[in-house]
Order: sequence, then C-alpha cells, then structure tokens
Amino acid sequence: VTARWAAAVLGAGGYIGQHFVRLLADHPWFDLTHLVGSERSGGRRLEDAWALPDPPPAGFGRRRLEPMSPARLRRAGVRLVFSALPGTAAGPVESACQRAGLAVFSNASAHRMEPSVPLLVPEVNADHLRLLSSRRHRGGPLVTNPNCTSTGLVLALKPLLPLVRPSAIHVATYQALSGAGLPGVASLAAVDNVIPFIAGEEEKVARESAWILGTRSGVTVRPATTPILAHCARVPVRDGHLEAVTVVARSRPTADEIGRAWTSFDPLAGLDLPSAPHPPLQLRTEPDRPQPVRDRWAGDRPRTRGMAVVVGRVRWTPPNLRFFVLSHNAVRGGAGGSVLNAELAAARGVLGEPER
Ligand SMILES: NC(=O)c1ccc[n+]([C@@H]2O[C@H](COP(=O)([O-])OP(=O)(O)OC[C@H]3O[C@@H](n4cnc5c(N)ncnc54)[C@H](OP(=O)(O)O)[C@@H]3O)[C@@H](O)[C@H]2O)c1
Repeated sequence: VTARWAAAVLGAGGYIGQHFVRLLADHPWFDLTHLVGSERSGGRRLEDAWALPDPPPAGFGRRRLEPMSPARLRRAGVRLVFSALPGTAAGPVESACQRAGLAVFSNASAHRMEPSVPLLVPEVNADHLRLLSSRRHRGGPLVTNPNCTSTGLVLALKPLLPLVRPSAIHVATYQALSGAGLPGVASLAAVDNVIPFIAGEEEKVARESAWILGTRSGVTVRPATTPILAHCARVPVRDGHLEAVTVVARSRPTADEIGRAWTSFDPLAGLDLPSAPHPPLQLRTEPDRPQPVRDRWAGDRPRTRGMAVVVGRVRWTPPNLRFFVLSHNAVRGGAGGSVLNAELAAARGVLGEPER
C-alpha cells in the first residue's frame, strides 16, 4: 500500500482520541484531515483538551474540534473514521457514519457483539474480517476492537491454547486509571487505594475474549467454550493494564515449549502493516517483570511503541499454568488496536482503492 485514505477521529479531545491523533499524525497510509468533538467541545482547540505528557503533534494543537456530521465528512473526501466515543454516544453516531458510506473503526462497545461486526485483534482472529461479507446494513464496513483488558489476554492465550487445552481460565487485573478516560478517576478515590470494581468489565472480558478466541465458519462465530473468570480492579497506575492469569490445563507442555510458543508467535509477519509489532509478544524472564512503568511501551520500532504485549513470571504448578501479562490499555488496547485493524482492512481490500 503506498497511497493514502483520508481519515477523521471522533471524540478527538478524549484520552483515546488523543492517542489516535498521536498515531495518525504521520501515518504512512491514513491522512488525518478531521478532528470531531462533542457538541460541548465544538470550536475548542485540540491543545486545550490535550492530556498526554508529550505535546500534540506539530500542526495539530491549534486545530479546532468540529461538530459531528457524517455527510460533511463524506463530502470532504473522508473515507474512514476512528471512533473514540463513549459507549452511549457511539451507537447512533457510528451507525450514521456507516450509513453515509464511511468505514468505521471503533473502540466503543456499542456494536461489538453484533454478528456482522468483526471484533478484531489481527494476530488472533484476522479471519473474522470475513464477517463483513454478511453485512445486513448497507454502507461502509464497521470493525471494532475489544475492551482494553481482553486485548492483552487473548494475545497471550492464542498461542497457548493448542498446547495446554485449558478447562478454565482465571484472570485478576490491575487496571490503569487512564482506562476510565478523561477526566479520570477522582484523585481522592484513586490515591492510596485499589478499587475492586469496574462496571461491566468482568462480563466484557469473559464475553469478548470468548468471541475473539471462537471459531468462525462462514459468517458465523462460535465462541470458545472454556470459562473465563475475571476479577477486575482499578489501581493507581497511569497507563498499562497488568493481568495475573491462571490457566487450568489439560496438557502439560514444558516451560520451554510455552516460551517458544510465545516468542515464535508472529502471524502478521510479512504483511508489512505499519503498526504491527514483530513479535507481538515479548517474554521477560526477570523475576519482577512485566511492570507497567517499564514495559508498557514495548514494541520493536518507534511506530509500534506500546503495541507489543509483555508476558512473564511463568510458573507451572500442574494443572495450573500461571503468568502475568501487561499491555498498554490506550495503545494496543485502544487507539493503536483500531489503527492496526484499519491497516489490516486496507491490506485486505476492505477500504477499496485509496483516493490520494
Ligand atoms: N481509555 C482506555 O484505555 C480505553 C481503551 C479501550 C477502549 N476505550 C473506549 O474508547 C472510548 C473512548 O474512551 P476514552 O477513555 O477516550 O473516553 P473519554 O476520555 O471520556 O473521551 C470521550 C470523548 O468523546 C467525546 N464525545 C462524547 N460524546 C460525543 C459525541 N456525541 N460526538 C462527538 N464526540 C463526543 C467527548 O467529548 P467531551 O470532552 O466534550 O465530553 C470526549 O472527548 C470509550 O468507548 C471507551 O470505552 C477506552
């Protein structure tokens, strides 16, 4: 792919929206032409909403957030939209974009479990893109990425499953504050504290992970049947979700075999997707890794920083295989995941011919 498709970010002033701007500002395939905000933020400059530690990319801080109008985006030549809208707003807005013929790549939960909408982690279930061929609605394709906790989990599990044939999977999470978006968890609730509840999260982890790890036949997906039991907690970390995983295994591969399955896993090798890390899984052997502060920006090159998932602390106490997994919730689990989905869609011809 050498030419470019014009793109817009919906919810550009939010936490995931800002990561989209950061990742798309100099993207080789997508040309970020429009930043869309809520009605509340209409006319505000991006720099006034900016919350990331590094400044906005050159030329973007002074740009104003514009109101949502799918027809206007379409007339302006936009071909795809990246949605960082809250779940409640996302449903009707994303559907309107799709009806206007725009391709939608969404972080929001609104359309995730619809049978004709791929819920995609490209290294795990790229073949689910085929669900688009069953589309009942006319208009552009709609592709979603899962909640930020499922993304790291399914990436770590995918190469393991055939080796360990689990009868159950337990996961306890230590989730970053930024997972709650802007303005974030109130400081007095977050500091010196752990909150053992994130609304809807445990159900999403179970449901979305089983769907992604499920088997597609034609345009239907049969979810994986292994029970996935999650405890989700919010901890006072800025970015990076850490997860303690226990896999109840039916088979007993050695720790070496497990390590090799992880480090040799690279299903997107050779596709040349700009945001795909190679390898997508990094195995740390130190006794105290992965850690959010040290490992959340894992990736093999500047564009894939935060796109690799780090596994470590592997312990084998049969029938339980235990390990930790860490992923950047806003990058691999958020904006970066959507950008990678769009790159895969472009490479598979889903976006049609570029116009620029
Ligand atoms: N944070 C994460 O780590 C993470 C990871 C994966 C997925 N997600 C999902 O990504 C989405 C965005 O999350 P976030 O954390 O970025 O939330 P956020 O910081 O609250 O940002 C949401 C943004 O959407 C804007 N908005 C709200 N309604 C709108 C509308 N009708 N039209 C246009 N813009 C509108 C808001 O504008 P105002 O500022 O004017 O209110 C805000 O800037 C959510 O669906 C979330 O579940 C988040």
